[in-house]
Amino acid sequence: MPARSVIIDCDPGTDDALALLLAFGSPELDIRAITVAGGNVGLERTLQNALSLAALASSAAPVHGGADRPLLGTYGFAPEVHGDDGLGGIALPAGGVPNPALAADAIRDILRKAAEPVTLVGIGPVTNIALALITEPPLAAKIAEIVLMAGSWGEGNTTPSAEFNVWNDPEAFAVLLACDRPLVLAPLELTAHALVTDARIAALRARGGGACLRTACDILDSVPRSRRFGGLGFALHDPCTIAWLLRPELFTTRACPVLVDLVPGPNRGRTIIDRWDRSGLAPNAAVLETLDADGFFALLGDRLAALP
Ligand code: BDR
Ligand code: CA
Repeated sequence: MPARSVIIDCDPGTDDALALLLAFGSPELDIRAITVAGGNVGLERTLQNALSLAALASSAAPVHGGADRPLLGTYGFAPEVHGDDGLGGIALPAGGVPNPALAADAIRDILRKAAEPVTLVGIGPVTNIALALITEPPLAAKIAEIVLMAGSWGEGNTTPSAEFNVWNDPEAFAVLLACDRPLVLAPLELTAHALVTDARIAALRARGGGACLRTACDILDSVPRSRRFGGLGFALHDPCTIAWLLRPELFTTRACPVLVDLVPGPNRGRTIIDRWDRSGLAPNAAVLETLDADGFFALLGDRLAALP
């Protein structure tokens, strides 16, 4: 099987870091570009973090800086989860320099020249992808699939209604919902299955491995345990998207109509995921519903242990 061409749009971010390392360790993926936006912290840090992670893993994937703000307004950051530097204060090697092409330009250029459709993975606010699509809409035909960590069918994790990535750029998310390409969503209820506990970090560390695996475990150790899980652990959101590409049999899915609330006020950024066909609308996304967590952490361990 030839490797699948992917572009990973991210805002590293502790769980973005684990997603990138999982992708770097996976020969099934041909990472054509890593495109970066602000989100968990400001763009100057997320970009530096992406470059450092690529250097740590000796990845040659080009890293492109992009949006430092959403389509409207400004990003809200999450230093209480990811630390002021976005990676929990864990020291990484200095990275190289970003590719001079800006993220949306790079996405369009790759799609324009692609002989085969390209898979887009979004694990931050999806401003860069939306910018690429609204400036050259026909390129949507070159997208194989869009896989996003986004939204929830119940409550949010940033406001009572909204999940962080969608809350940070709901208009950009709406552009992707409307682009009429296969869309896969990993919402909060799905990523809750990927629960990181002290025991799971210890098992990961016990794999040995090199600097990438040790750094990944240090980053996981830095993340505050979530009140949502009674302080027992936290959800490893973003790597679920990469795991879907590698091992879809670990997941169950449901085709659903998905909408996003763009109205200013308490529900802004809320995803309306109609899992039980109450709206009568046609499904526009495959929503990941359940995950074999042991299989997921085994995959993560295998791939991180294979990195330098
Ligand atoms: C999402 O928000 C960010 O803080 C994480 O990196 C993840 O992409 C989870 O809501
Ligand atoms: Ca993220």
